[in-house]
Amino acid sequence: MTAQLNPRGDVAVLVPAAGAGVRLGPGAPKALRLLAGEPLLVHAVRRIAAAPSVHTIVVAAPATEVEAVRAMLAPVAPVAPVTVVPGGAERQESVAAALAAVPAGPEIVLVHDAARALTPPHLVESVAAAVRDGHDAVIPVLPVVDTIKEVDAAERVLGTVDRSALRAVQTPQGFRRSVLIAAHRSAGDALTDDAGLVEKQGIAVTCVPGSELALKITRPFDMALAEHLLTTGA
Ligand code: C5P
Repeated sequence: MTAQLNPRGDVAVLVPAAGAGVRLGPGAPKALRLLAGEPLLVHAVRRIAAAPSVHTIVVAAPATEVEAVRAMLAPVAPVAPVTVVPGGAERQESVAAALAAVPAGPEIVLVHDAARALTPPHLVESVAAAVRDGHDAVIPVLPVVDTIKEVDAAERVLGTVDRSALRAVQTPQGFRRSVLIAAHRSAGDALTDDAGLVEKQGIAVTCVPGSELALKITRPFDMALAEHLLTTGA
């Protein structure tokens, strides 16, 4: 499906959504599990599409679900319509497949996990704004609240890490388009985020404040929390 383009925006958002969701227990691929009666991916895309800077959205779906995901998302994002491509075996492959499908135009590319389904549109805007202001790579972060210990294979404590210098990293992560393309082109081992690829290129990555609503829905407790947040207006 070819996306119609939203002429208002200068941002493409890639949504890797091809994960199995093993940590949620048996069931459908994670992005298709229901949260308050709708798939996680629908919640995520609806919020992305509500951000005024978004020009187009490219979803990497589970390979067997591409048609179903197209049908599901067609009514969700009428202003910044969605292109759906098959994802890969690893998250990094899914992002690369989505990146290859971005149409000409947007010079800012955000990568946003479908699993962060309640991410507010203002976080999409603040990450995009920081890239527009001249930063090559931008990540939303929260301070780490727990004390962090490093352990060995036998779970013996090796030391305590200074948490004041640590940040928990969320998505959407934002990039100048050429920077993300170059980082993926030279990608080696699979990493868990895209900023990691950019760091390996020696390019500075800038932090902006994240949002507690951008929590990553990973385990059954997170689903319950997200349901509660939705019923209280998230
Ligand atoms: O595996 P993890 O929970 O870190 O996945 C983060 C995001 O990457 C999820 O939205 C998931 O659907 C996506 N993913 C993907 N392709 C894979 C694995 C994960 O698009 N092969």
